[in-house]
Amino acid sequence: MIENCKLIEFPQNGDERGHLVVVEANKDIPFAIKRVFYIYGSDQDVIRGRHANYNSEFVLINVAGTSKVKVDDGISQKIFDLDRPHIGIYLPKLVWKDMYDFSKDSVLLCLASEHYDAAEYIRDYETYLSLMRNNRENK
Ligand code: TYD
Repeated sequence: MIENCKLIEFPQNGDERGHLVVVEANKDIPFAIKRVFYIYGSDQDVIRGRHANYNSEFVLINVAGTSKVKVDDGISQKIFDLDRPHIGIYLPKLVWKDMYDFSKDSVLLCLASEHYDAAEYIRDYETYLSLMRNNRENK
């Protein structure tokens, strides 16, 4: 499960005028994008996210600045550095995620496979752990 969280390197179409990074749905990332949002102005000591989603998949890209993402599948955890504007992290559904260590200039772009639905967010960690435990037992 956690091994399905993957860094994606997008080609940098750079020339003397600067860089241009393209993210095409179903090509560069493995889903159709239904929603885009971005997070900025978070202090260094803030932890965002702290949830898992029943349905949504995400790709997170620090288009400016840096942050870290800690992913957790109920058994193991892994930390990814988002520190280049052409690197994204793909997060499948049912992954617990914390975003933190935001640089002052951090702009974290989030591409999502679903429209916003508060009901598909799991925001209680104990609930998440027991859901994942049940899922493993029912496999
Ligand atoms: P929240 O999920 O807490 O952000 P994060 O996980 O990045 O810390 O969302 C903050 C607020 O924005 C919350 O009131 C819900 C709202 N929101 C939307 O209305 N639509 C969205 O697509 C997202 C991601 C959040």
